[in-house]
Amino acid sequence: MHTPEIQNIKTPFYLYDLDLLDATLSEAASQASRYGFQIHYAIKANYDPRILNRICMAGFGMDCVSGNEVKFAIEKGFKPRNIVFAGVGKTDLEIEDAILAGILCLNIESLEELEVTGLIAERLKRVAPVVLRVNPDIPSLTHDYIATGKKENKFGIAMEHLSKALNFCENHPWITFLGLHFHIGSQITSPEPFEELCHAATRIWHDHSITLRGGRLINLGGGLGIDYLEPARNPIPDFGAFFKLFHENLYIPATIGRHFELGRSLTGQCGTLITRVLYVKQGSGKKHVIVDAGMTELIRPALYGAMHKIENLTSNDGIETYDVVGPICESSDFFGKEISLPETRRNDLLKIYSCGAYAESMSMNYNLRGPIDKVYLASFRDTPSFPKLTFNQYSPVPAQ
Ligand code: LLP
Repeated sequence: MHTPEIQNIKTPFYLYDLDLLDATLSEAASQASRYGFQIHYAIKANYDPRILNRICMAGFGMDCVSGNEVKFAIEKGFKPRNIVFAGVGKTDLEIEDAILAGILCLNIESLEELEVTGLIAERLKRVAPVVLRVNPDIPSLTHDYIATGKKENKFGIAMEHLSKALNFCENHPWITFLGLHFHIGSQITSPEPFEELCHAATRIWHDHSITLRGGRLINLGGGLGIDYLEPARNPIPDFGAFFKLFHENLYIPATIGRHFELGRSLTGQCGTLITRVLYVKQGSGKKHVIVDAGMTELIRPALYGAMHKIENLTSNDGIETYDVVGPICESSDFFGKEISLPETRRNDLLKIYSCGAYAESMSMNYNLRGPIDKVYLASFRDTPSFPKLTFNQYSPVPAQ
């Protein structure tokens, strides 16, 4: 519990455990390889260059949702042919750049986008590789804001328009149809939604004769959840069960490439947010622990009411009930309400778990906060392009 090494580092900071990241990547890769599945990392979860470097070295492809993500991925060493590009609102320029970059495929989310992509491809005289993202109308049993597979969601082509989209691809000289894409939501912790996805995908694949139409890949998205309640006990998600479920429940020809887009499950547990207690304020009927990190560094509790485990690294005296809050001018700026912690005092250090995905990548500059430092833990060096770190110790890297 006592961590003298980090006492003197300027807070708040993200602490990334690159060894845990490596172990997670290696487990995911080895479970996927049992079935020949391919993993694309959803870069939106975390685009820290050192994390990307590890992911690239582990041989993963990339899943992007903006032109800048595609560019950044290529800049960081990911091969265009391993990059997929989804998103309901791609601009003309993003579509053009993606076609010219030679990425694996654009995951098209509407008939309207398909038509525009056809026009752009024709103008460029370059064939656009297209995968159709289908909205299968499946509940994903997760928070409403991160459910993407219900028909009322903005994502994917509605089932009733799929035939038209397939015919459009078939008749367009500048479009090559490669297959289907699904992504039903995020932080999914039970098997049922994934089983339902397999059944729906199997049905759709056969009903629409996707193999005959030239389909050669299916992308089943991401969504595998992590354990926010007990992150230290379950640092690595059960990739074995996840991939086995798809292996056992998806009935399409074995020659069709199976692709996945994992974000949170790969990076979520390797990051924590370390923050210092500024004040313990006696409020009316409750105690507020006011820390120097805010919703600007971790917005998930404010946005989704998400729970992140919090540990006091510098005290284990007794137990008290606190609201842990940040300094931002919003009442939604909290990390935990009515939570039990050891008696907490000014200058104590708190560790907020499970901040490796959708924390830094969703951080913002509200209240002119500015970016915070990062600290990496690793037992071996990543590449010569990151020469400044001394590994095996806590080494702060100034915010850029
Ligand atoms: N593929 C697509 C098309 C996606 O939209 C996403 C995430 C993923 C893959 C990766 O999903 P994952 O494996 O990470 O569940 N900010 C929210 C999560 C938003 C997820 C958006 N899409 C959160 O903090 O919970």
